[in-house]
Amino acid sequence: MAFNQELLKTSNVKFTFHFIVYLIYYCLEAFILQFFPCRKNVAGKIVLVTGSANGIGREIVLNFAPLGAILVLWDIDEEGNKETAELAKKSGAQAVYTYRCDVSNREEVYAVAKQVQKEIGDVNILIDDAGIMNGKNFIDLTDAEMEKTLEVNAMAHFWAFRTFLPSMVTKNDGHLVIIASLVALFGHNKASDYAASKAAALGFFESASFELWAAKKKGVNTTIILPYIVDTKLTKGLKTVRPFLVPILDVKYVGKKIVDAILKEKLYLILPHFGYIIPLRLFLPRKAVFALMKYLGIFNVADNY
Ligand SMILES: *[C@@H]1O[C@H](CO)[C@@H](O)[C@H](O)[C@H]1NC(C)=O
Repeated sequence: MAFNQELLKTSNVKFTFHFIVYLIYYCLEAFILQFFPCRKNVAGKIVLVTGSANGIGREIVLNFAPLGAILVLWDIDEEGNKETAELAKKSGAQAVYTYRCDVSNREEVYAVAKQVQKEIGDVNILIDDAGIMNGKNFIDLTDAEMEKTLEVNAMAHFWAFRTFLPSMVTKNDGHLVIIASLVALFGHNKASDYAASKAAALGFFESASFELWAAKKKGVNTTIILPYIVDTKLTKGLKTVRPFLVPILDVKYVGKKIVDAILKEKLYLILPHFGYIIPLRLFLPRKAVFALMKYLGIFNVADNY
């Protein structure tokens, strides 16, 4: 086949020009639209939240409660889950259903998902929040602990997406949300297993998002939440060294921000703002990287965990 260098050159220029025009257009569009915030209507939509028994999961449920959504709560903590359901009803929820499900157990996810589909219907919005943390140095982690972290924080998303995505793709309508962590973007002391699991979740989420977009399934929305330390049971004992830069976030604030990001169909939500400077370390020399991480407190946050 003849290879036309000239044609390649002109098409490169053409496509690069198109890309730059679209890039500027989309940024301007997003900038202008933020002054006319548009939140989607979730009344009557089936919203499933995993890890709903406490912490961020519970706050997400409580923020959805007054919006008229049908809430489906998954957790292994049945007591806590019932409590969340009661609170949701008090906050105005019309329909709340609780299920016991270990999201790290693939067979259980498939089985409980089938039950939900039969008893309630196709899930419209899936919010994967369930997560665990060991808070130990790599050298002190057992094999079983490392495996469990990966199973709950990373692989659980595979099984949940596999179950709920097909009906969303068929209808070209749905929303997949992962509550990951800012730690998906950098290494962290006493979090080797945790950071690995969250980086895996981010990689999985972005790949799935790009595949949906490329397949023109633009009605299936995707949102990933990347928060740093939130004041919950999971993070008890963590201490910030630089509270003005790296604050410990209030769970009620985080729950509100997350639901707002979902309703605005954002792709990423980073909390707090220092998260935006974290990727810049990749451009720094070796010693400067360690100095920056030490300054931010990454080495010492989990000292007393
Ligand atoms: C997903 O996004 C599309 C386009 O914004 C929208 O029409 C659709 O209702 C959304 N679906 C859900 C379940 O959020």
